Amino acid sequence: EKGGFDHFMLKEIYEQPKAINDTYRGRLLREDAIIKMAGVEDNMKKFLNANRFIIVACGTSWHAGLVAEYIFEDLARIPVEVEYASEFRYRNPIITEKDVVIAISQSGETADTLAAIKLAKSKGAFVFGVCNVVGSSIARETDAGAYTHAGPEIGVASTKAFTTQITVLTLIALRLARAKGTISSSDFRHYLLELEMIPKKVEKALKADAHIKEIAYIYKDVSNFLYLGRGYNFPVALEGALKLKEISYIHAEGYPAAEMKHGPIALIDENMPIVVIATKTGHYDKVVSNIQEIKSRKGKIIGIVTEGDVTVRELADHVIEVPDTLESLTPLLTTIPLQLLSYYIAVMLGKNVDQPRNLAKSVTVE
Ligand code: F6R
Repeated sequence: EKGGFDHFMLKEIYEQPKAINDTYRGRLLREDAIIKMAGVEDNMKKFLNANRFIIVACGTSWHAGLVAEYIFEDLARIPVEVEYASEFRYRNPIITEKDVVIAISQSGETADTLAAIKLAKSKGAFVFGVCNVVGSSIARETDAGAYTHAGPEIGVASTKAFTTQITVLTLIALRLARAKGTISSSDFRHYLLELEMIPKKVEKALKADAHIKEIAYIYKDVSNFLYLGRGYNFPVALEGALKLKEISYIHAEGYPAAEMKHGPIALIDENMPIVVIATKTGHYDKVVSNIQEIKSRKGKIIGIVTEGDVTVRELADHVIEVPDTLESLTPLLTTIPLQLLSYYIAVMLGKNVDQPRNLAKSVTVE
């Protein structure tokens, strides 16, 4: 049932090329240069007339929501707010009929997310679900939606659910951008082409497996990790830190790289490993100067870089390469080494990777 892998988590990490392909299959029609998603087409007016999108989710799904915020605003020029479902529902939030609420949930059963969408519906908002589990409570409760089609995710730590959520949300953003005219037809075609190449590029990113295992071995006994990223890769830094803490029980924090100097920099010494996402698209020079700041404080740098990178390679203690792609699609690739790093550290520490202590696959209590 684990298909030859030691754990479901590893199997699911390796399933991502196929899962991402399954997510866009039948929706991304490159030759016709269209994106077809029934849940979006049928409700196009609601999407286009919205004053703003409010994304509600928890945990890893919330991180996918943060990536989506960048992509919706960037491509479709729609204002987006991303909310922890648990905070949103108890905050007396301002919701109107002109809002579109997007709920993201792998299980479709998360109690806080379900309660948040019920609240949004009662205020007249249009509620759209991005779920993995077909027929789940959130899928049934929403007005419309799009499934991720990732297949069953058994490992408690979410992996393929995250990358397929980002894929669905990217498709939606592109479809809306086309409808609004905020993307040119040539850029749109370029996106479709790049998206179609993602599964192959994920496969390539997975090839760093043995190298990542060596890095895991070096740092498995530390008690703290920092993860830094900017722009589209800031949420990936949060996700990398969450993966590590939930399965290895090592304390880890994700931060926007530039926020480091406002506090976390005080933590840096020769014992602190810092994972820095420094792909060549998107604020590369700024991230490089953040890396120099870390280096001058003797922190250990693990750089996630674009293939062929030279600058970070010279500064960092280790680099892990991912293939080049459009900036907005980099999260689909930079996430991969972070998943593997946390996986190998947890395995080396003898932790129960698929069922970490105190955690459940669906959190049906608030
Ligand atoms: C992290 C993880 C959790 C879930 C969160 C939301 O690896 O699994 O943080 O992401 O409990 O779950 P869903 O997406 O099912 O609503």
